[in-house]
Amino acid sequence: MRKPDLDIKIFADRRRKIAEKIKGGAMVIPAHPALIRNHDVHYEYRQDTNLFYLTGYEEPGSVLVYRPGQNPETVMFVLPKDPLRETWDGFRYGPEGAKAEFGFDKTYSINEMDSVLPDLLMPVDRVYYRLYQNSDFDKTFAKALDVAREKLGRSGLGLKPVVDPFEVLGEMRLMKSPKDIEWQKKACEISAEGHIAVMKFTKPGVNERQVEAVLRHTFMMHQSPRMGYNAIVASGNGSTTLHYNFNDQECRDGEFLLVDAGTEWNYFTGDITRTFPVNGKFSESQKKFYNCVLFAQKEILNMIKPGLVFKNLQTATIKILTQAMLELGLLKGSVEDAIESMAFKKYYPHGVSHWLGMDVHDLGPYTLNGESRALEPGMIFTVEPGLYVPSNDESAPAEFRGMGVRIEDNIVVTETGHFNMTLKAPKETSDIEAVMRN
Ligand code: GLY
Ligand code: MN
Ligand code: MN
Repeated sequence: MRKPDLDIKIFADRRRKIAEKIKGGAMVIPAHPALIRNHDVHYEYRQDTNLFYLTGYEEPGSVLVYRPGQNPETVMFVLPKDPLRETWDGFRYGPEGAKAEFGFDKTYSINEMDSVLPDLLMPVDRVYYRLYQNSDFDKTFAKALDVAREKLGRSGLGLKPVVDPFEVLGEMRLMKSPKDIEWQKKACEISAEGHIAVMKFTKPGVNERQVEAVLRHTFMMHQSPRMGYNAIVASGNGSTTLHYNFNDQECRDGEFLLVDAGTEWNYFTGDITRTFPVNGKFSESQKKFYNCVLFAQKEILNMIKPGLVFKNLQTATIKILTQAMLELGLLKGSVEDAIESMAFKKYYPHGVSHWLGMDVHDLGPYTLNGESRALEPGMIFTVEPGLYVPSNDESAPAEFRGMGVRIEDNIVVTETGHFNMTLKAPKETSDIEAVMRN
């Protein structure tokens, strides 16, 4: 069903923007196959991000064929009405409902695809379609291209060129509109509420699974439909595993708990990491270690404004964190040598940032003409430095073994600088302790 607060004009506006870039061509975006693992048992379905981005339509089994400048322009294939199926699976719009409610120019049942798609492709000079996303539809699509070629008869023309739509869509999704930013901020706000809730909940003896439950509860009580990705709830040595996903250990006194979790609002997701002591009070060693990461994160945030070259965020992070590794006694020698030899990668092995939006690692190019691109207003990304010292690292000072700290905020570039959309989740040690005391 369409949420009542979703104005379909938003999606028409997005299509209009795409139109300028693909004039003369058609864009074909299928839903991805719904997952049915056991007979008649359905699992959560999330619409293909690009399909939702351009239509707002959430049902599986749908395909957008968008042909700017042609008549009809926006064509949508959808699941047909089916009273029997609907008593089992729930409401479907069907072609008539989809046309009336979503403002498409023409709608068909998905069962008419084979007979209609070739005709829709005949008048265009190229087709924007991503292969290998939906292998069933790949076959339907290839067949339609071939039938369209046949129908051109004695013209001698071959198959239409197929162009990857992700280039156009990536560039467009990278430049967030005011509406995108509004939805992104809401996702960030609810995500931050989840982090505050787990700080209040956590104490020695709780299980990571219960912490995850508090996240889910908080997110859904704010009417978010789902998490944006699998939450990482990692206590103790688990915090040193970057993509820890077991979330099943007891959180113990004296350990850190690292929580990397975000939730969705209208398909935009937050991506926040906070790390805090299970017992609510930073030990001296924990504070020393944590503040190195916090210092790095704030230094990087201070750099962000239009014009800054994206890769400079990572270069600066490496410098600051490598300096910290020397101060903490994790590495020896000079900062320059530790960077040159890549020794820093042992404790900081990942990037400091990625685009964020409707996918947690959002679509969008990081380079322009082969060069790392400069930040522009409306770009949204994370800032997430971290330090990780596994418990079995005998070369590290004993006091830091088993500590993993990452601090991750979500940033939108503004005309004059940037705005931190996740500041509400505490990250100063004193603020975290204050929240955990209550
Ligand atoms: N949560 C995934 C990431 O931070 O990139
Ligand atoms: Mn991230
Ligand atoms: Mn994250």
